[in-house]
Amino acid sequence: MNDLSPSEILLSGEQIQKRVAELAVEIRRDFPGDLHFVAVLKGAFMFLADLVRNIPGALTLDFMAVSSYAKGTTSSGEVRLLKDLDTTLDGRNVVIVEDIVDTGLTLTYLQDIMRARSPKSLRTACLLSKPSRRQVNVAVEYVGFSIEDKFVVGYGLDYAERYRNLPYLAVVKE
Ligand code: IMP
Ligand code: MG
Repeated sequence: MNDLSPSEILLSGEQIQKRVAELAVEIRRDFPGDLHFVAVLKGAFMFLADLVRNIPGALTLDFMAVSSYAKGTTSSGEVRLLKDLDTTLDGRNVVIVEDIVDTGLTLTYLQDIMRARSPKSLRTACLLSKPSRRQVNVAVEYVGFSIEDKFVVGYGLDYAERYRNLPYLAVVKE
């Protein structure tokens, strides 16, 4: 775990804050009334916190925890539900908040189980997307940044549970 460390800064805290504020405006414009966020732990905690602080008016939020990668930087394609939602999604305008879409397997799994709970609408906001890595076609309505196939940490994202506290996004290199 000490063989990798964040080197080059990919996106500064300022760049992230600016883009998150734009996404917040877009989401509120699309859902001026009822709005319910489902954030995916742990990676999306910082994104969610900044997103909702930029959204005026009534909203609610909930958390779900999944584990997609056992350890390291490669996808197993296996998704485990570690923590389920506290409240129902029935009739709500739901926006899933994810840190990053890589292969798309985790998000596909999440969208399937949320859709089965009869929300009025279901959309997804991802801070980051790596389109070149996609294995399944999955809809993401709000994308913060599309990035190249590099492993990134910071702003909630980890490598072996580290670096989530960085206020910016950095690329890890050997
Ligand atoms: P997917 O199922 O391959 O789309 O993987 C999605 C999940 O893998 C994300 O929610 C992250 O937890 C993790 N992940 C994918 N790429 C990165 C990365 O570059 N840095 C940190 N975590 C990543
Ligand atoms: Mg995640």
